[in-house]
Amino acid sequence: VTPTNEVLSAKYKRSFAYITVRDRLPITITNVIDLLVRDKDKIIDEFGELAKEEIKEVIGQFSKLKNELQTNKPFQLLTSDGSDVPAWNAYYERETDREGEVPRWFRTSWIYAECYMYRRIRETFELSSSLKTFDPFRKSKEEAFHSSVDAMAILGDYVLQQLQAHGVKRFPSSEMKKVALWGNQYDLSRPVGSELPEENDPLKNIQLLSDHVLVDESEKMWSVLEAAAKHRESITIDIVADNAGYELFADMCLADTLCAFSLATKIRFYVKTMPWFISDTMEKDFHWMRHKLLEFSNEYPNLADLANRWEEHLNLKKWYIEVGDFWTLPHVYSEMKTADHQLYDKLSDATLIIFKGDLNYRKLLGETNWAPTESFSNALQGFHPAPLVTLRTIKADLICGLKPGQAEATAAKSEKWLITGDYALIQFDG
Ligand code: F6P
Ligand code: MG
Repeated sequence: VTPTNEVLSAKYKRSFAYITVRDRLPITITNVIDLLVRDKDKIIDEFGELAKEEIKEVIGQFSKLKNELQTNKPFQLLTSDGSDVPAWNAYYERETDREGEVPRWFRTSWIYAECYMYRRIRETFELSSSLKTFDPFRKSKEEAFHSSVDAMAILGDYVLQQLQAHGVKRFPSSEMKKVALWGNQYDLSRPVGSELPEENDPLKNIQLLSDHVLVDESEKMWSVLEAAAKHRESITIDIVADNAGYELFADMCLADTLCAFSLATKIRFYVKTMPWFISDTMEKDFHWMRHKLLEFSNEYPNLADLANRWEEHLNLKKWYIEVGDFWTLPHVYSEMKTADHQLYDKLSDATLIIFKGDLNYRKLLGETNWAPTESFSNALQGFHPAPLVTLRTIKADLICGLKPGQAEATAAKSEKWLITGDYALIQFDG
């Protein structure tokens, strides 16, 4: 357990940060090694003969990385020519000054250690000649997509019905927010064995989970959008996306419905520039999903219809896929204004920003162990480019904005409530 108001770190041995750095991160590296061993021939087919030697080298480097982690070695400066490398190295210098020692896995902040691991994995491929674009999590993302197609089909049917009813019915706010919220359960870095919802019907599931939303301030977010719609303003919604596959699909369903009901005129989806936290969305994952959905035109014509609608939104410049280095830097969001002023200004133009998922929540809260009753607004530490909302299933031991006694009452019901992803939050700062 981390003392209150401290930054989470693996130096606290009873915290989830410690479990993650000790157990979960080495497993991620091992899984990448296993994939390279198992799929060697396929990778050579795709990336060329030179990959044959390089796969071996890369595997050696991953074993070394795992050893560095497990023996708590100092971090290193990055050496690739990625556009984000100067920012990473400046962060390293800054942390070294601040901590009075070179950052190490079990001493520095959890967010830095975890982001650094994904960045080192990326760097290893960047420094090769033949595997520069290799995504070690592509296969898992694709498999996860396939296992959630049935759930997408059910949601897709529902969403198309709503889309047809616009102008007649009110915006299905309660369902759509829950669909996007609980979509966050579908991530591949889940702590407790990746259990997905038991029911494959996402609409039934969200009903079962309705008393698991510990804070629901969604009314405030609808008010912002409705007020904007009344004034016939252009309404930009920024969605800071999280995981590819079902969650992204659900987010796009929400976005499409918001546009159809005139609660948004422009949507910008912010995605990652590199493989990140296993299942986070990259631009290519979005396009891959769109193509896959089209392939279901016989079995599930509604999925193909949705994919076509989304393509059109992009072509008509109603929707944008936005990429940028900041989202894969270790900075927490209160540092955005100084670390990436342009991005902060861009987000400031939005009517509403929706932050999806647990990692975004950690960054919103400055990776800090607030008292559970601390207000969301204080916990943001000045980060307020525009009205914002977080849709998060709870998978890490930090939280804020609860009522007195609520944390204790939830812990009494479920000991691991902070890490299982079974509870959720919708918190708003206006
Ligand atoms: O369980 C914790 C964790 O693996 C964190 O590392 C990270 O914050 C999160 O899960 C990833 O979840 P999400 O995809 O919701 O950001
Ligand atoms: Mg994620």
